[in-house]
Amino acid sequence: MNYMVLSYFNAIFDSDQFFRQYQGRCGARGDAVSGTQAQSNSVPELRIRPVEAADLGQVIAIDAEVTGLEKTDYWYELFHRYGGGRTRQRLFLVAEQGDAIQGFIIGEIRDWEFGSAPCGWVFGLSVRASARLAGVGARMLEAICDGFRHAGVRTVRTMLARDNSLVLSFFRSQGMMAAPFIPLEKDLD
Ligand SMILES: CC(C)(COP(=O)(O)OP(=O)(O)OC[C@H]1O[C@@H](n2cnc3c(N)ncnc32)[C@H](O)[C@@H]1OP(=O)(O)O)[C@@H](O)C(=O)NCCC(=O)NCCS
Repeated sequence: MNYMVLSYFNAIFDSDQFFRQYQGRCGARGDAVSGTQAQSNSVPELRIRPVEAADLGQVIAIDAEVTGLEKTDYWYELFHRYGGGRTRQRLFLVAEQGDAIQGFIIGEIRDWEFGSAPCGWVFGLSVRASARLAGVGARMLEAICDGFRHAGVRTVRTMLARDNSLVLSFFRSQGMMAAPFIPLEKDLD
């Protein structure tokens, strides 16, 4: 039943309209500021919105800064599959501040995988090093979770490297806890 509801809503999802709520006058931490404050504040407002093709150069640079690899083909392929706000099941959002893309987050709703009811998965998240610790990551996670909620799911999951204490601290700070799953792997020689 849930699956049918999600599939039906995909056909009418207007991501521009949905994410317009994240375009208000806000500081990076999401605190509302008055018009006078906004005018006198030289820091441009942060806006969370679906990625556009023109953002890819900055997205690739942020990813390369974090991972040390410039994966241009991978990002264009990901944009093709997740970009443009085509469905509410796949979300690829960026945090824009003035002319700069400060970060990105990517996720999707997976239906009935691992025997679990449909849930949101976050599988890509990075904030430009110079923009960190200002609430950008939290704002993006909040936005993608709202997208998942809007699509009818009530759980969000992610997976991270065991030794990535920075990302673990971030997700724990956002209320995420150990899930009842165990990842398994083996080498395929
Ligand atoms: C994890 C990451 C997305 C956080 O983004 P951010 O915009 O700096 O995070 P926020 O400012 O929203 O921080 C929210 C909370 O996360 C926690 N946190 C963030 N950075 C932290 C750090 N360096 N140390 C400890 N806690 C941290 C804090 O609790 C923070 O809340 P607080 O500032 O009120 O204490 C960012 O550091 C990043 O992109 N890191 C690299 C990601 C990566 O490795 N990606 C590749 C694999 S997906």
